[in-house]
Amino acid sequence: MNSKSLRLLREWFKKNAASLPWRPSNLDAPRDPYAVWISETMLQQTQVSTVRDYFIKWMKRFPDVATLAKASEEEVFKYWQGLGYYSRARNILKTAKIVAGNISQKFPENRKDLEALPGIGAYTAGAILSLAYHQREAILDGNLVRIFSRLYALEFLPTDSKEAAETYWNYAREIADSSKAYMHNEALMELGRTVCKVRNPECGSCPLLASCRAARENRTAEFPPAKKHVQKDWHGTVLVIESMDHKILAVHGGQKFFKNQFTLPHFESPRNATAGLPAQAEKYVDADAVQSVEIAGKFRHGITVHKMECDVLYVKLRTKAPKRERADSRWVERSRATEFFASSFCLKALEQALS
Ligand code: ADE
Repeated sequence: MNSKSLRLLREWFKKNAASLPWRPSNLDAPRDPYAVWISETMLQQTQVSTVRDYFIKWMKRFPDVATLAKASEEEVFKYWQGLGYYSRARNILKTAKIVAGNISQKFPENRKDLEALPGIGAYTAGAILSLAYHQREAILDGNLVRIFSRLYALEFLPTDSKEAAETYWNYAREIADSSKAYMHNEALMELGRTVCKVRNPECGSCPLLASCRAARENRTAEFPPAKKHVQKDWHGTVLVIESMDHKILAVHGGQKFFKNQFTLPHFESPRNATAGLPAQAEKYVDADAVQSVEIAGKFRHGITVHKMECDVLYVKLRTKAPKRERADSRWVERSRATEFFASSFCLKALEQALS
């Protein structure tokens, strides 16, 4: 992109930058790397309009990395609940502990050390380095991919091959290799979000219109090309197991989804539950302790590329929850279940079984 285009982009951004809780009104001010890290991680796969309130609440409760590092995973999940992709929340806590444990308690100021932290990839590292530290570092997100693919009529995606990724990153590095990389990076994300949109781009208000090949050829709808997306159907059963003293079983590890957090026991199973206790459930409860098994309902849920359909079985036990807990399970008071199980996957199952 030439310097004239970059100037037009900056002028457009200064006029049109939305007011966002993580964006200071002075667009030239360096930012708190912690706030950049949190907001940009939330913004991966989640829309700005949703992230707004989550970010404000998060920063009230965890204003800095030291505060966050001291929080429990349970509480962190609670503040993440609804944003999806829970591995991001788990990684955030891991990274907070590492950074808070550094002597300086500061985020690394180079790409290699940042990308070594859990959950920080090329995009987040570039965002922290450019937006917080004002380094000439590149970022590439879905917005920039869409803009580059239209500007240069690129008929492939960075996910297609190593060479394809290199082409997009080269364009991104070209943008970053300028003074004010922080502003060019963020301006492009904003442009992608508000003007160069997936559907119905508003080319009439675009500062880059004069240099956009797709617009010139009236082909914006063809870019970026469609993903070769495989959606996998998954059918499973979720167990809501309640002890006689009104506690619900939570398990940790060994699950298909949510591998490293407490969740309701679940497993893959054929469509439509049949009456009785499925054999897989005996991994979690002694069949002799079961008082009743009820098919409580069904729900649909999407996780990553999986389109799931789950049966919910409500299993009542005639015994109390064991006093001594195993490391990979926990009995949670029924009245606290909806706060304990942060994921909407579990919340949907609980709603079917307990309401
Ligand atoms: N999307 C992700 N990060 C963004 C940012 N900093 N500004 C605008 N849109 C974004």
